[in-house]
Amino acid sequence: MSRLRLGVNIDHVATIRNARGGLHPDPVRAAVIASEAGADGITAHLREDRRHIIDEDIGQLIGAVALPLNLEMAATGEMLAIALRHRPHAACIVPERREEVTTEGGLDAAGQHDHLKPLIAELGAAGIRVSLFIEPDPRQIQAAVSLGVPVVEFHTGRYAHSEGEGRSVELRRVADAAALAAKNGIEPHAGHGLTFDNVLPIAAIPQIAELNIGHFLIGEAIFDGLAPVVRRMRQMMDEAR
Ligand code: PXP
Repeated sequence: MSRLRLGVNIDHVATIRNARGGLHPDPVRAAVIASEAGADGITAHLREDRRHIIDEDIGQLIGAVALPLNLEMAATGEMLAIALRHRPHAACIVPERREEVTTEGGLDAAGQHDHLKPLIAELGAAGIRVSLFIEPDPRQIQAAVSLGVPVVEFHTGRYAHSEGEGRSVELRRVADAAALAAKNGIEPHAGHGLTFDNVLPIAAIPQIAELNIGHFLIGEAIFDGLAPVVRRMRQMMDEAR
């Protein structure tokens, strides 16, 4: 089984910075530390309301960090223009509602097919690897196939927030979705709500190539420091393969 990549989402370093409007803590410094501790990529979500990273962070993350940047973005003209200006390694298209606390569910790629098609084409033509953040649902995977994206990221929120038998059902949905995506030539990634307690079964799904993890790592870093926390997640992911 190939090595499972870890994308560290540094949004919540920016959230803390923004609470005081200054420059500290610096998400770029967090990205450098994550890189040295074994991350394979950095993920950041430029939201319409700029509650996490801000526009200036993108250029700095690309310039100062050796790892590929995965820019999470809503499917809007504003975000497309920003992505085309910076040309991150990858762009993950996520649904976005201003009032939500976090990205609460997957993108309706099936329902938004005609809106997404030209946006995906422009990102792809600029050499940006496009992924769609979708529920582990065969209908959404079919839409991703028809949209021609190379990558999908499965929203693991329902898995992470369920318990007992419910969690086994959600795990199976993710595993089946990963197998279906891979069978159709799409590289499956996963993320949302992953922690030391729930990452192993997801990391053991053989087709999944990358996990993107943010809130837990940054929260845990308050107690143990970012480098040890990233190193431990990296080790657990390796052990699961
Ligand atoms: N992947 C995507 C596409 C996301 O939008 C997010 C944040 O919601 C994550 C991964 C990471 O989720 P979390 O912060 O819960 O680890």
